[in-house]
Amino acid sequence: MDVATAQVKCLWFVARQHPGPMGRVVLVTGGAGFVGSHTVVELLEAGHHVVVVDNCINSTKGSDPQELPPALARVQTITGKTLRAFYMVSLLDRPGLTKVFAKHQVDLVIHFAALKAVGESVEKPLDYYINNVTGTLNLLEVMGEAGVKRLVYSSSATVYGVPQYLPTDELHPTGVGITNPYGQTKYVCEQIMKDLATADKEWRVVLLRYFNPVGAHESGKIGENPSGPPNNLVPYIAQVAVGKREALSVFGDDYDTPDGTGVRDYIHVMDLASGHVAALDKIFSEDFRSAIAYNLGTGQGVSVLQMIDAFKRASGRDIPYKVVGRRNGDVATIVASCTLAEQELGWRATRNLQQMCIDTWRWQSQNPDGFM
Ligand code: UFG
Repeated sequence: MDVATAQVKCLWFVARQHPGPMGRVVLVTGGAGFVGSHTVVELLEAGHHVVVVDNCINSTKGSDPQELPPALARVQTITGKTLRAFYMVSLLDRPGLTKVFAKHQVDLVIHFAALKAVGESVEKPLDYYINNVTGTLNLLEVMGEAGVKRLVYSSSATVYGVPQYLPTDELHPTGVGITNPYGQTKYVCEQIMKDLATADKEWRVVLLRYFNPVGAHESGKIGENPSGPPNNLVPYIAQVAVGKREALSVFGDDYDTPDGTGVRDYIHVMDLASGHVAALDKIFSEDFRSAIAYNLGTGQGVSVLQMIDAFKRASGRDIPYKVVGRRNGDVATIVASCTLAEQELGWRATRNLQQMCIDTWRWQSQNPDGFM
């Protein structure tokens, strides 16, 4: 090898090891989904370059395979920026994934891609373990082979099972009392990543444990777009408000909570998205340790009835509801302690319940049929 070539190789190596503070190449799995697409907005706004990998089984596809999924086309409209690339590839397609990593000098991966319907996971556990766990294993192996060892993982408060204390912090035991296969896959993937980071100190992983993501980008152009009847509270309320569904079923009013209905820590999806950018910055900081979990929530508990009331005010629509029995696997209350994220990521949620409802309503009322 001549000296000039050696110098270029060396410079390239240094650049890979010490990339500048801005403009990282971020590969986002599941970037066409709800939290993924909002995070891509924040990444582009922060000056990063984004490659999206998504199989679009749970998100609307473009009208032909060459076309971007509508959520990502709208992300480009919102930001005025262009994605570096989009690949309709499944994480189960290892050769396809390897090709993507061969085409791009990826600095960090944010891994959202997963199946996420709790009830469905009870009926089809193998689909969940294969997609979520095998898919993650493939991704980790391909990343390792490509020398990309920085990862932000989309985890969930579900890893805490039935909370033993509130607000629940990251020291709370995980993996105990998880009531469904979806939750188990999140826990198992966290364990795999922790073990990997213990075995190989080059891995730098942030596990982000989301509480209940709601809301939409304030433009009203992107938002949550469930296929079929929504499983989660806020998308269901939004569809009742817009007239697509008759009435909400409130799952139990006999919990040990102030009004008897379930209490959750709802977080605006744009706050969640900015949490990912903060996690990325943390991973590139000098003092970063191998694999760290952070809660992303607001620390505020909101009951089902309080959410109905807030959404009524935001939308000006009536939300008919009937109280039915408890849903299997639900806990009475879970609320996050977000002190660690505040101290170590310099991040905290800034949008309140009213903002969550106003933005959800803007998205729902302007796009009653989602991205169609
Ligand atoms: N609820 C209703 N009616 C509905 C839907 C929900 O009353 O039609 C109630 C639930 O009983 C619960 C609250 O609204 O008290 C929130 O329910 P969601 O389904 O919106 O959210 P969960 O807290 O059950 O689920 C969330 C995430 C999951 C995650 C789970 C556990 O959506 O991905 O937290 O942490 F697994």
